[in-house]
Amino acid sequence: TKQEVLSKKKILITAGPTYERIDPVRFIGNYSSGKMGFALAEECAVRGAEVTLIAGPVSLTINHPNITRIDVESAEEMYNASVKAFPAMDVAILCAAVADFRPEEQYAEKVKRNGDILNISLVPNKDIAASLGKMKKANQLLVGFALETNDEENNALKKIVKKNLDFIVLNSLNDAGAGFKYDTNKIAILNRNGERKDFGLKSKKDVASDIIDETFL
Ligand code: C5P
Repeated sequence: TKQEVLSKKKILITAGPTYERIDPVRFIGNYSSGKMGFALAEECAVRGAEVTLIAGPVSLTINHPNITRIDVESAEEMYNASVKAFPAMDVAILCAAVADFRPEEQYAEKVKRNGDILNISLVPNKDIAASLGKMKKANQLLVGFALETNDEENNALKKIVKKNLDFIVLNSLNDAGAGFKYDTNKIAILNRNGERKDFGLKSKKDVASDIIDETFL
């Protein structure tokens, strides 16, 4: 049964945005709500998996005995927590909208306005998915997400290869009701052979169920 397939499986899920600190009161972030990742965590836990949920700053709560939640703020913190947890996992589903860049320097005090232009240099963050892809053993599965604004399928396929993913979940910003903040999502799942499966617009709970079915069954 669906229940038995996930029973005792160890699953890592990253969720939410990351905040990259500029000064004590400001950050660079993104619109991710964490809802998709939390729905995945809940679905896996209900089906009997042991879930490690690494969450960026979100205003969501989750409460299931099978879920261990680790809260992080920055991409670097999420990277460290993910790399540490991954070796013990059967599967990692990387749902987080990780910031690609962080300010090169953090100001110790709140930045004051003085009429001048303020330049903030941004340096690239490490790619968690690509790093786990390098660590991945033959018995582990890695699932990534891709949110593209153009040429979505090509870009997604490139990411599968570059990050050594087994599946990538595509969600487009072009679909009404899909993506950030909404309680619904519309996805397609691509595998390493380029095979694509499209799903209709549904609740993130049902989308989570589709993703788990596709990954395990
Ligand atoms: O390259 P892009 O950011 O579009 O890839 C998206 C996928 O990579 C998602 O699964 C996301 O969680 C993951 N990712 C990551 N670490 C980053 C950037 C993206 O794990 N620094």
